[in-house]
Amino acid sequence: MSAVLRLTVTKCRASGIVVILIACLMAVGLSVYFLAGRPYPTANSCSVSPKRPSLPSFGAAPKIAQSVIRLPRTVLPHHYDVRLLPILEKGNFTVLGRVAIDLQCVEETDRIVLHSSDIKVDLKSVQVIEQGEMAKNMLSVESIDYETVTEFLIIRLNAKHKVKLAKRTNYTLSMDFVGNLTDTSAGFFRSVYVEYGVERYMAVSQMEPTDARRVFPCFDEPNMKAIFTVSIGRHRDMTALSNMPLIDTTAIDGMQDFYWDHFAPTLLMSTYLVAFVVANFTKIEADVGNANWKFNIHVRTSAVSQAQYAKVIGPKAQAFYEDYFQMPFPLPKQDMIAIPSAFVGAMENWGLLTYGESVLLYDADVSSLDDRQTVVELVTHELAHQWFGNLVTMDWWSDLWLKEGFTSYIECLAAEHVDPSLERLEQFVTSALHTVMRLDALESSHPISVLVNHPDEIGELFDDISYKKGAAITRMLANFIGAKSFRNGLTHYLRIHQYGNAVQDDLWNALDRQADLDQVFLPTNVKTIMDTWTLKMGFPVVTVQRDYCSQNVTITQKRFLVRKSNSTTADPTVYLWWTPLTYTTDFRTIGSTWLAENQSSKNLTLEFEIRDDEWVIFNVNETGYYRVNYDARNWHLIAKQLMTNHTAISVINRAQIMNDALNLARAGLLVYEVPLNLTKYLEREEEFLPWEATLTALSYLDSMMKRTPGYGLLKNYVLKILSPLYDSLGFVNRSSDSHLTGKLRRKVVESCCSMGHKDCITKAIDSYHRWMSDPQNTTIVPAMLKRVVACTAIRHGGEVEWDFAFQRFRDSNVASEKATLLSSLSCTQESWIIARMLEMCLNPTTGFRTQDALDVIKTLAGNPIGRFLTFNFTREKWLEMTKIFSSIHNLAHVFESVTKAFNTDMELKELSDFVGRNKELLVSAMTRSTQQSIDRVRSNLSWMKQNYRHVVNWLQKANTDVTFQPST
Ligand SMILES: *[C@@H]1O[C@H](CO)[C@@H](O)[C@H](O)[C@H]1NC(C)=O
Ligand SMILES: *[C@@H]1O[C@H](CO)[C@@H](O)[C@H](O)[C@H]1NC(C)=O
Ligand SMILES: *[C@@H]1O[C@H](CO)[C@@H](O)[C@H](O)[C@H]1NC(C)=O
Ligand SMILES: [Zn+2]
Repeated sequence: MSAVLRLTVTKCRASGIVVILIACLMAVGLSVYFLAGRPYPTANSCSVSPKRPSLPSFGAAPKIAQSVIRLPRTVLPHHYDVRLLPILEKGNFTVLGRVAIDLQCVEETDRIVLHSSDIKVDLKSVQVIEQGEMAKNMLSVESIDYETVTEFLIIRLNAKHKVKLAKRTNYTLSMDFVGNLTDTSAGFFRSVYVEYGVERYMAVSQMEPTDARRVFPCFDEPNMKAIFTVSIGRHRDMTALSNMPLIDTTAIDGMQDFYWDHFAPTLLMSTYLVAFVVANFTKIEADVGNANWKFNIHVRTSAVSQAQYAKVIGPKAQAFYEDYFQMPFPLPKQDMIAIPSAFVGAMENWGLLTYGESVLLYDADVSSLDDRQTVVELVTHELAHQWFGNLVTMDWWSDLWLKEGFTSYIECLAAEHVDPSLERLEQFVTSALHTVMRLDALESSHPISVLVNHPDEIGELFDDISYKKGAAITRMLANFIGAKSFRNGLTHYLRIHQYGNAVQDDLWNALDRQADLDQVFLPTNVKTIMDTWTLKMGFPVVTVQRDYCSQNVTITQKRFLVRKSNSTTADPTVYLWWTPLTYTTDFRTIGSTWLAENQSSKNLTLEFEIRDDEWVIFNVNETGYYRVNYDARNWHLIAKQLMTNHTAISVINRAQIMNDALNLARAGLLVYEVPLNLTKYLEREEEFLPWEATLTALSYLDSMMKRTPGYGLLKNYVLKILSPLYDSLGFVNRSSDSHLTGKLRRKVVESCCSMGHKDCITKAIDSYHRWMSDPQNTTIVPAMLKRVVACTAIRHGGEVEWDFAFQRFRDSNVASEKATLLSSLSCTQESWIIARMLEMCLNPTTGFRTQDALDVIKTLAGNPIGRFLTFNFTREKWLEMTKIFSSIHNLAHVFESVTKAFNTDMELKELSDFVGRNKELLVSAMTRSTQQSIDRVRSNLSWMKQNYRHVVNWLQKANTDVTFQPST
């Protein structure tokens, strides 16, 4: 899956595994729609097994322990024949289904345990048939039971007659069932959209991680790979898509205008990658050169023009991966489809990628370059999964990070290739590394590799730790092992495990082998190094202490925590890592060495001479996943360099220095004076990354001080350092701008407008009003500035400005523009409008779709006036919200955004009270995120106590500095 939300199979030539379907009509009722039954022998011949009377104890106990969530391995599926007929009529969203699963019995058993949830299996239709050369024996089924906690469907064979499945024998389990297309984005769901004024429906599936069981009964675990032969029923006017190409279409008996689309058998793959779509869409064929596959984009007809970008980069990225992984894409076709509603993010189903419209479609007139970047990110991400995740799959969800982390790094390489102007790799430190370090610096973080059992816990793994920390340590690994060994190691890994499953050790072994072949120097093996990063949570701060007489440098590491709790519960983990160190004094010669896990400090003599008046900078280009602190004198030397000629330090390291220093101060490891003094150089900084890194780190000060008397000082100081850049960049974009310049301008304009820069506000309001008087004109407000312009006008305006943006939001045909306008609606300062927005969120008929509601609540929570109204609203309507935002992931986000700027005793108390009173309402799976929220608020509180005065004093001094003339 992919970052906005994220949510990935394998092949094997289907020899003899394909079910032999004996077509013959017999059924009545439901099964008429399905494959019309098979002539089964009526004889009830049981295979009575010889010895071994003891059953696997699994499932025998009346109450299954939570930890026993895995399926028994007594039978293994080889092939599924899945038939689904989704009805798409207002008032009837039934799904009629039939599945026939070919199983191999590997251990004698009297039951078949598989997954099923939210679907009704017709008991009478359940059949277990022994496959044999000769006759087909039907085993008698006694009962079927549902185990709701584990989502098991247990099919018991007739005990009285001692019916059993025999070892090394193959069977076919088949059944009819009925389900519903849901209105959430899980399982098989419906998406409703309006096109040319007509309301339309489509059916889409989303299985990852554990929702295939909601669509058809199956062995829903990633390492129970099988071949899927899919048939989808659809109306004449609709098209059906699945993982594989269509091979045949037949009429459905008894249903006029309905047809079966039969798809080619898949390769060997996991259940979570199975996909189906039924829609009335337009297909766009991409030019693939001389590739061995077809590549199509599917969109609603009125959005065809917006698919051009995806059409170009899709096949280009796929071809890039074939080359990078040195393995061909194994399927004959790739489809990418844009889902208009009820779906955010993207999903890497093998051969049928699904996207929310806003992350696949791009309209050069109204979407911004950032929207284009989002399209590149998600397309390259999902395509990388076709190998990393689909061809080789994690053995179990505990290793989710393996596919998500690696993919989140490798996607950057593909993005560099398909659209270099976006400078995606350059942005890695600010877009991924700094972002996840914020979360991973909390005591309540979690290791990348965690044991998970229950589906709710699995859902919670789709977080920044798996994606972004996974990507950050992958980047670190690629850097210390070298790009070539990294790539060849990956290819080796993919070749060995293709069409199968793997654990992280398999990858480490493949990379170790490659490192040996290439004679890469490592202090120990890859596994030992990487285990310290995947099995422990958090990351180190490396402290560099120079001895200016002897030139010796002492280097120590310890866990970086934004706040240490007084918790007495001993954590036995030793927080030391195998840390790859790089350092330089001039950015021409780079030294490197290692900090070992088993030694916390050592005296290191750098291999080149450093003069007393020279700085040293560690973590060159921030390829390492750690922060660096120095002695006061070295900090001073760095500050001096930045003030005299900042370009002597690389752009990424300037970003690193600012971000590290501000965060070290926040954690109490450095006096605030150091980073605040460093910010003075920014008056001359013209690059995006250092500004982005600084403003992101400063946003913490901003959120803490926003409601304090000291905020005016902070505003004035930030405006002072921003003004030169505002003046030189200007408000309006230029055609000569690079992507990062465009991003920088937006950042500067956003900060200036929100901090009260008069010229900025006037220009924003003025261009918004011009747009209001000429709404169809897309050139008045440049796409990149649309959010800040609308936000500023709404913040300083009233109902009229809000209503205009809301109307544009409703009318817009472009999903990314919709999202931009939606977020600006939350800038209003009118309490009553905020209250009205909150009400609208829970009622889709008022204009916010369910997925919009989530964004509205999150952005309102960031508004100083909206925050309290939103917290109150959340508390009052929690029960309703748990129903609407069915995904835990989403709920956790709501909770996090509402509480993250709390910083008073009173607010902490209110939060703890709410959590204490509503344990059961907060859903067990949210335990971790609620704990993180409380942690965060505690840390805010202690920050205020320790630093607020100090910062205010520094700002007072800086603002009276004569050179300072804020241009407001
Ligand atoms: C059972 O099915 C598997 C997979 O198709 C096949 O390899 C095996 O030979 C079959 N066993 C028997 C006894 O038919
Ligand atoms: C929905 O449509 C199907 C197929 O026409 C029909 O069998 C089923 O009874 C209908 N269900 C409802 C609730 O109308
Ligand atoms: C499908 O929806 C209908 C109407 O809401 C409901 O009666 C039925 O129980 C649902 N079926 C399943 C399998 O949940
Ligand atoms: Zn993914």
